[in-house]
Amino acid sequence: MVTLQVNGKTMEVDVSPDTPLLWVIRENLEMTGTKFGCGIAQCGACTVHLDGSPVRSCSLPVSVAQGRSVTTIEGLADGDTLHPVQQAWIDHQVPQCGYCQSGQIMSAAALLARNANPSDAEIDGAMSGNICRCGMYSRIKDAIKTAASGVQVFEPAQEVQNG
Ligand code: FES
Ligand code: FES
Repeated sequence: MVTLQVNGKTMEVDVSPDTPLLWVIRENLEMTGTKFGCGIAQCGACTVHLDGSPVRSCSLPVSVAQGRSVTTIEGLADGDTLHPVQQAWIDHQVPQCGYCQSGQIMSAAALLARNANPSDAEIDGAMSGNICRCGMYSRIKDAIKTAASGVQVFEPAQEVQNG
């Protein structure tokens, strides 16, 4: 048995200690918001927080998370109140296909928790491990800045229409 603290709740799972945390989250705990992308710690789709820091759950043995605090995308909101990053994502209409997005949001939330006003370079550095095949990088950056400012944007970002 491995005992985990996931989104504030104590959970026990009967798995091998070397099982990737992502598998436990998705298969044993049936929280499917965290996505499997590459499986080799290269894309960021599986990002969750471990004691507040972003980690690649596809490549983290569940035994490493034993007794530590795990937060998944399902635990980011405070009840019915979205995390500021989630609200900014909606305001900026960031997702395209959506597959990478829970990982992007978790990395952005971890960044703002340790740096409330990141520079462009700091955003780029913190988000560089999160790949978006749909190329929504500019909206991701805008949404992070909005979340950092604490100012909600109720109109989606306007884009220049060509031709
Ligand atoms: S699935 Fe974990 S980094 Fe890609
Ligand atoms: S929104 Fe499609 S991969 Fe990022």
